[in-house]
Amino acid sequence: MTDAPQVPHLTVVEHPLVQHKLTHMRDVNTSTGKFRQLLREISQLLAYEITRNMDLTSKTIDTPLMEMEAPIIDGKKMALISILRAGNGLLDGVLELVPSARVGFVGLYRDEETLQPVQYYFKVPDGLGDRLVIAVDPMLATGNSSAAAIDLLKGAGATNIRFLCLLAAPEGVARMKEAHPDVPIVTAALDTGLTDKGYIYPGLGDAGDRMFGTK
Ligand code: URA
Repeated sequence: MTDAPQVPHLTVVEHPLVQHKLTHMRDVNTSTGKFRQLLREISQLLAYEITRNMDLTSKTIDTPLMEMEAPIIDGKKMALISILRAGNGLLDGVLELVPSARVGFVGLYRDEETLQPVQYYFKVPDGLGDRLVIAVDPMLATGNSSAAAIDLLKGAGATNIRFLCLLAAPEGVARMKEAHPDVPIVTAALDTGLTDKGYIYPGLGDAGDRMFGTK
């Protein structure tokens, strides 16, 4: 599959349901449980967009009236890659829509001295080169860890990769475009910028903390 160039580099999903749910997620008064529920719901709406030009295969079925050749997604051809830890919140919702997708995990932390991402976990399905690979991470902030995660996926053989996030900063989009112009990004919003601590603003805070109730 080599359809990535036909897909725009950045798609902001401006659907009213997505924007409504995102507003509640941004609200500091939204509880952990509600935040998780909203993330699950919004990830399904974003999954609808990111899978828009997925390849279909077909299958012969019998309707009550006749036999027909009907289109069908081969979920086994998809790999969902969660960038730990916050990626798991997006992963669950997408998996509900494509339950047969294969799943992988990439764990990266930021070295306090070099400020560069360091890998601590990497487990992905085999045959990545034959799959549509969707990497998920709610916050595309500086883009450094996202670009590093995509480097690792390409190193493991992936050639058809898309990136799904909830919020993107212009800096992160630019970094991804420079490092991986072949990877389309789908997001619910393109925010204003990054604070000097690397938080997206207006943003929603630390996505992992809000999702898991940690501080
Ligand atoms: N990661 C987060 O969880 N929030 C941000 O604003 C930026 C990175």
